Amino acid sequence: MSIPNHVAIIMDGNGRWAAQRGWPRIKGHKEGVRTVEAILEAASDAGVKHLSLYAFSTENWKRPSLEVSTLMALFRMYLRMFLPKLRQKGIRFHHLGALEGLPPGIQRDIRFLEDTTREYEGMVFHLAVNYGSRLEIAEAARRCVEDGLTADKITEDALAARLWTAGVPDVDLLIRTSGEFRISNFLLWQAAYAEFYLTECLWPDFRGPELMEALRAYANRERRFGGI
Ligand code: IPE
Ligand code: IPE
Ligand code: MG
Repeated sequence: MSIPNHVAIIMDGNGRWAAQRGWPRIKGHKEGVRTVEAILEAASDAGVKHLSLYAFSTENWKRPSLEVSTLMALFRMYLRMFLPKLRQKGIRFHHLGALEGLPPGIQRDIRFLEDTTREYEGMVFHLAVNYGSRLEIAEAARRCVEDGLTADKITEDALAARLWTAGVPDVDLLIRTSGEFRISNFLLWQAAYAEFYLTECLWPDFRGPELMEALRAYANRERRFGGI
């Protein structure tokens, strides 16, 4: 079976998962973190090389401040808890997003996880927190200017090399859970030729078997990249 190099997932539906049970939204986020752990393991075992998970967008700051602060507290708690799993599987951690816009404690945790796992040679786990694709592209353009590039030097490669995903292969398979049919400002550049897999399954229920189903669907796709 052909396994995608780079799988990106828009992890959606935590709130609805909790609401269906009459629980507060945050219980859905907590269960969603368990899914992250399960998917890390399943993707790494399946031979995926890059896994990008969308955890918090630049637009998610619009949510009620209690939900935002609870999410930030959850990130801190779980970033630390991931380390044994990353060690066990040799998974390298990498943050995607505007680090400077995050609370200082989370910035430290992110740097610590990146530093500690830097030499690991297994799958790379890209966690998108305070991530927005338009911001990423605008910042890459700004960096081209800062680097003194003249107009003729501003190429696709020059921009790609200044994205947060510099050096990371394009997304092959983009998954979104919870039955929504939109991209919500995630990896717009990198997913230019990604195969889409949309499922009604809510994120807390999306575990190893559901990922395998998505990988099987991907293996049956015919990719053309504009050719015939
Ligand atoms: C996704 O679940 C997690 C984040 C965006 C932080 P949601 O919180 O968006 O859950 P729904 O879409 O309201 O069900
Ligand atoms: C997208 O989910 C962002 C993340 C999964 C982190 P949202 O729930 O924020 O997206 P919209 O608002 O439904 O498009
Ligand atoms: Mg949502």
